[in-house]
Amino acid sequence: MQKIIILDFGSQTTQLIGRRVRELNTFCEIFPYNKFPDDDKDVIGVILSGSPLSVYQADAFHIDLNRIRGRFPILGICYGAQLISHSYGGKVENAGTREYGRQQLQNVDYTCPLFKGFDERSQVWMSHGDSITKLPRGAILAASTETVANAAYYIPESQPVFGTQFHPEVFHTLQGTLLLRNFVVDVCGSRQEWSPEKFVETTVAELREQIGRDRVILGLSGGVDSSVVAALLNRAIGSQLTCIFVDHGMLRKNEFNNVMHDYEGLGLNVIGVDASEKFLNDLEGVKEPEQKRKIIGRDFVEVFNAEAKKITDAKWLAQGTIYPDRIESLNITGKVIKSHHNVGGLPREMHLQLCEPIKWLFKDEVRRVGRSLGMPEHLIARHPFPGPGLAVRILGDITREKIRILQEADAIYINALREAGLYDEIWQAGAILLSEVRSVGVMGDERTYENPIALRAVTSSDAMTADWAHIPYEVLAKISNEIINKVKGVNRVCYDISSKPPSTIEWE
Ligand code: XMP
Repeated sequence: MQKIIILDFGSQTTQLIGRRVRELNTFCEIFPYNKFPDDDKDVIGVILSGSPLSVYQADAFHIDLNRIRGRFPILGICYGAQLISHSYGGKVENAGTREYGRQQLQNVDYTCPLFKGFDERSQVWMSHGDSITKLPRGAILAASTETVANAAYYIPESQPVFGTQFHPEVFHTLQGTLLLRNFVVDVCGSRQEWSPEKFVETTVAELREQIGRDRVILGLSGGVDSSVVAALLNRAIGSQLTCIFVDHGMLRKNEFNNVMHDYEGLGLNVIGVDASEKFLNDLEGVKEPEQKRKIIGRDFVEVFNAEAKKITDAKWLAQGTIYPDRIESLNITGKVIKSHHNVGGLPREMHLQLCEPIKWLFKDEVRRVGRSLGMPEHLIARHPFPGPGLAVRILGDITREKIRILQEADAIYINALREAGLYDEIWQAGAILLSEVRSVGVMGDERTYENPIALRAVTSSDAMTADWAHIPYEVLAKISNEIINKVKGVNRVCYDISSKPPSTIEWE
């Protein structure tokens, strides 16, 4: 299949470039800047991402562009454009012309293939300290801004090279999608064959081929990723799939029953295991977040293994690993900051092979695939939920009573977001019980001395960074009233207004 390669120089928007290319129904893969794939027979173009570094620094990320130039069309974005300049006789300097935020393009060369079809909506998104003060050899200037002369350029060769100082992948670049389309479709010749329907069709065929008559085990979490894997496998191999859904006792209110009901509705063969007693016993008195996580992780593997071993003829373990779990994202030192996890121990011990059918998809693509498989919308649009569940949203030790309080408050909160039509705009929301904090309140004529609930809601595209969601005051007021009036044990509600970084999405 045709693909675009995106080389990551450490920009926060690299994944966004990937998603934009996929939205053009074109497959793409992201690689660390220095790991261009050896197998490049299906590559139709290369995009060089931005970076927090300066190309002229000694420790900047450099590569030999001659390896790709002349073989594929290239688009350099921000640092990528500067790197091309720096490598081919241009100049990049910190010229005191820093730009951040919205800028207007001027003097656009509409004959440049990148700007084909552009209208006068010239707003672009800039984020740079360095500027290209001299274009690379053979380059033609294609656009400027008020402060920066070289905002875009191109080198017209049989495999052309383009550079934009601005970020076309960012929403605030009004015609960014058109620019990327011009590059991906017109310049690189994408046939735009990558679609959820196509993905389902080819994946189902591949799974049948790969698995044959073998039996497959899948751990379901109630989340969208594992559920979509289940639906795909169900379509491919039907009853050869056995799903295991473990209830550790710290799911949302009624979640276990609701999700089991959904799964049965999808025709899945699911074993539901209520292991809450074991988890809650093992967690008794434990306050430290990492220790909670370790206990839950260990217990989960034990419970899952015990069930999985009953399926003696299983040959495969399926997992809902998605693409962002696997991308080796870089930090400023060039060190990889994310690596791939899978279910501890099980494949090795049981000699199971791993089956990860959605490992190429971004989260929004997983959802589109789920829709094209006819899965119910509430299962597809569900917010991410952490594996350890409410354990990492109860600050302090965990008791059944605290779980009850948090489940009630959380259910009120989530229902209110749905009613206000905000649920789908928010990446993830949940309530947190500050069980070690107590504050004074007054209810009727009585003094109360109870716990606060914190509400968290964030917008994000991949959970790597997140902003707190700007929920209207009226909605917050309604939620606060309802929680304090209805949930015994809570007398105060706070809203978390921290972004990630420096805060995380979960409190523990
Ligand atoms: P943080 O809190 O690190 O969360 O900003 C990022 C995303 O990961 C989820 N999360 C977890 N998921 N096990 C999981 O399966 C965990 O231990 C865990 N901790 C955080 C979190 O809900 C958010 O979507």
